[in-house]
Amino acid sequence: MTDTLTIRRPDDWHLHFRDGDIMRGVVPYTARQFGRAIVMPNLTPPVTTANLAAEYRERIVAAVPAGVDFTPLMTCYLTDTTDPDDLARGFAEGVFTAAKLYPANATTNSAHGVSDLAKIYLVLEGMEAEGIVLCIHGEVTDHDIDVFDREAEFIERHMRAIVRDFPKLKIVFEHITTADAVAFVEECGPNVAATITPQHLHINRNAMLVGGIQPHNYCLPVAKRETHRLALRKAATSGSSKFFLGTDSAPHLRGDKESACGCAGIFGAPYAIESYCIVFDEEDALEHLEAFASLNGPAFYGLPVNEETITLERADVAVPEELDLAGQTIVPWHGGQTIGWRIAD
Ligand code: NCD
Ligand code: ZN
Repeated sequence: MTDTLTIRRPDDWHLHFRDGDIMRGVVPYTARQFGRAIVMPNLTPPVTTANLAAEYRERIVAAVPAGVDFTPLMTCYLTDTTDPDDLARGFAEGVFTAAKLYPANATTNSAHGVSDLAKIYLVLEGMEAEGIVLCIHGEVTDHDIDVFDREAEFIERHMRAIVRDFPKLKIVFEHITTADAVAFVEECGPNVAATITPQHLHINRNAMLVGGIQPHNYCLPVAKRETHRLALRKAATSGSSKFFLGTDSAPHLRGDKESACGCAGIFGAPYAIESYCIVFDEEDALEHLEAFASLNGPAFYGLPVNEETITLERADVAVPEELDLAGQTIVPWHGGQTIGWRIAD
């Protein structure tokens, strides 16, 4: 049995830092483990221009603890009126690493998202030409579509069309939750990849709905039935270069989750690499953790891999039931559980 595992320092290819005090509270948890992170732009107001992204990046960098080497990679929140020139300039200047497509009203702070894909076809054309990665929250928002079917429906209604119409566009199908998405990504060429969160590898929808409603297991896209979880575990641990780490760490205050209308999002950052390591260990695939966590993402984005390494070791770790962030309380992923791996000092 392997008791320690050394891998290149991983990166997180999808997370939410928020802003202000909460951002300053959460950034150190990510910087402790990851060399870089793709930072989602769904602030209020959203990060829609290169200037806003450059300012946001400065605020994040100021929150990185002294002596820690961490680089935030910024994304542009696409709207019906995104200026393709501003996006191209932001990318050329190294401000933007990717752009994010939220279908309008698909999730938290997505009201300004894209209402009709036709409205951003010019922007996508430019992105394809410049080599800018498109990150997609792949869920339809139509009220007549069951929430558990929204990802699979998005593939049929939109994903196939985007991939067909922009055959060279680099696309990340984010936080996939279904066997349908796994199959779709596997069918596509090397320009289409997917991120997978720890929660979707650990839980199915029962964890949210059985024995009382469990708001801390609620995120979007919502966890699906067990067959889907098993397909995700197989994809993540397979060694395929098409799947890589993206926690979708999405902190919400405890009171906002434990409410009559609880927010979607799981704060996965504090024990993220440990959480993935547990899954790879259970699947007897620890030899593929480094590719998933540290190699496939940079290869897809055309970035160098991190030079440093981290070592994971088998040990019992009691995850706190809640964390204090700037005097506010947030419940972390695995909160209250004892987990079997930790990062060695
Ligand atoms: C995210 C958030 O809270 O910003 N929530 C979530 O459930 N994942 C938004 C998102 O990525 O969908
Ligand atoms: Zn997200």
